[in-house]
Amino acid sequence: MRVFSNTSSLLSLLLLLGGSQEGEASPALEKRQTTGQYCDTASGMCYLEYSWGPTAPVFRVAVPDTAATDTDFDTLLQIVSPASFGWVGFGWGGRMTLNPLTVVWPNGQSATVSSRWSSGRTLPQLYPEATYRTVGASRNSTHWTVETVCSGCSKWSGGRLSTTGVNSFAWAVSETTVAQPANTASSFQVHDNIGMFSESLEPGTVPAAQFEEHVGGAN
Ligand code: HEM
Ligand SMILES: *[C@@H]1O[C@H](CO)[C@@H](O)[C@H](O)[C@H]1NC(C)=O
Repeated sequence: MRVFSNTSSLLSLLLLLGGSQEGEASPALEKRQTTGQYCDTASGMCYLEYSWGPTAPVFRVAVPDTAATDTDFDTLLQIVSPASFGWVGFGWGGRMTLNPLTVVWPNGQSATVSSRWSSGRTLPQLYPEATYRTVGASRNSTHWTVETVCSGCSKWSGGRLSTTGVNSFAWAVSETTVAQPANTASSFQVHDNIGMFSESLEPGTVPAAQFEEHVGGAN
């Protein structure tokens, strides 16, 4: 009896340990992303904001209210990245392959924005069909930020953004600095973390005049 009891206790203990290990592992796998509307008090601009938590960049997207599904319209992307990342990527169709990728990295006090496309899960190639103008960029000891407006990210071969429905977006980050920070064609290492989210553009849809004024004169 005593032996049986001990064995039973041991089994319970093992089950408990197994259970508690599972319990400790799950928070890391838990989705901790949040989405919503972010309005910048200084500029008055509002964005669809996505955040995965303090260890990932914040992504903000805005479009003019004249934008219509299946047409070419400009899309504004703001990224606030922890200083630890060497590059940050954003996929306009929710995945790595076959959609416009905006890849950005710090370059001194400014930032480089690189237009990419990938047909496989290897270093994405340059994608001249989408062009960018940098609206702003900054860097301090904890973060670097870049805001860029894309012409050519609203539709592509095989996909498009919906201005009325839900869109899928993807992101990727790497802790490794790119090979040539000043060069938009630089090579870079694979990501250390990736994620995806689905949202309507509605929280980031702003009056066209305000959108143009905000991005106007950017180069
Ligand atoms: C050197 C550059 C890159 C390499 C070598 C690379 C490689 C890969 C590989 C091997 C996978 C599959 C991972 C798995 O199955 O576990 C993957 C997935 C993924 N990558 Fe990349 N990647 C690169 C750049 C990028 C960039 C710039 C983005 C921008 C958003 C990105 C976004 C993703 C996403 C969202 C996934 C998961 C979903 C999917 O496969 O579409 N990657 N990548
Ligand atoms: C650094 O930049 C980030 C992003 O713009 C900002 O949130 C943060 O307050 C800045 N920190 C300092 C010390 O200026």
